[in-house]
Amino acid sequence: MNIANNRKKIVVLTGAGISAESGIKTFRDSGGLWENHNIMDVASPVGWRKNKNLVINFYNERREQLAEVKPNFAHTYLAELENDFDVQIITQNVDDLHERGGSTKILHLHGELTKVRSTFDASLVYDIGYTKLNIGDNCDLGYQLRPHIVWFGEDVPAISEAITYCMRADYFIVIGTSMEVYPAANLIDYVPKQAPKIIIDPNIPAFTTPISNLVKIEKKASEGVKELKEYLTN
Ligand code: OAD
Repeated sequence: MNIANNRKKIVVLTGAGISAESGIKTFRDSGGLWENHNIMDVASPVGWRKNKNLVINFYNERREQLAEVKPNFAHTYLAELENDFDVQIITQNVDDLHERGGSTKILHLHGELTKVRSTFDASLVYDIGYTKLNIGDNCDLGYQLRPHIVWFGEDVPAISEAITYCMRADYFIVIGTSMEVYPAANLIDYVPKQAPKIIIDPNIPAFTTPISNLVKIEKKASEGVKELKEYLTN
């Protein structure tokens, strides 16, 4: 018998809030990234067509900053949970702090900062690490590379895999997302009724549909996961 298969499945949906204590700005909080940048200018196909330099610089800055920050207690705690549970992370974050925190099953819904891809063939994805992307950096077929980020108005290719995980969850944990961006915000609706849904956020988001078995932990991520630990072990 495979012991791993008997473990309870925890699915964790994370957003910018889990990385806030590492020093990465969220998007919609006061002082957040979208306060100083126009979303459509830097995170949409229209913005890319209008001004590639602006878009490339925006993500170059994010990448440069990412090299300087570290995972925090919430990231490493989720990795430790793998000792006792089957843990699947679904993150909206484009940082690599779950990876560096030690989690092994991570699905990036909105792409990854440390990768770039071809503007001609989206399946041509390259690691760029924390280095800069430049105008004139091309894929193997000779087309300009772009950030490997899902922009507004683009499909979210990983969403069907994410839905499958949610449908099998024994516990669903949401950390640090305003639940304002779809389709990620709909994932909670695919979690079985009986599964506890635990939300950790200093400012718990409002839900548009009634959520069964909802547990609210109104705290920052690093503090909230300590309470989560008590919940899971009692
Ligand atoms: P938001 O900026 O919309 O929401 C951040 C959430 O984190 C809010 O609910 C805050 O209350 C919470 N928060 C702030 N500090 C926290 C802390 N220390 N611990 C826990 N929670 C904290 O960010 P997301 O919901 O992640 O997409 O945004 C979703 C998507 O919108 C992003 O993936 C990004 C953005 O546009 C793309 O760039 C494609």
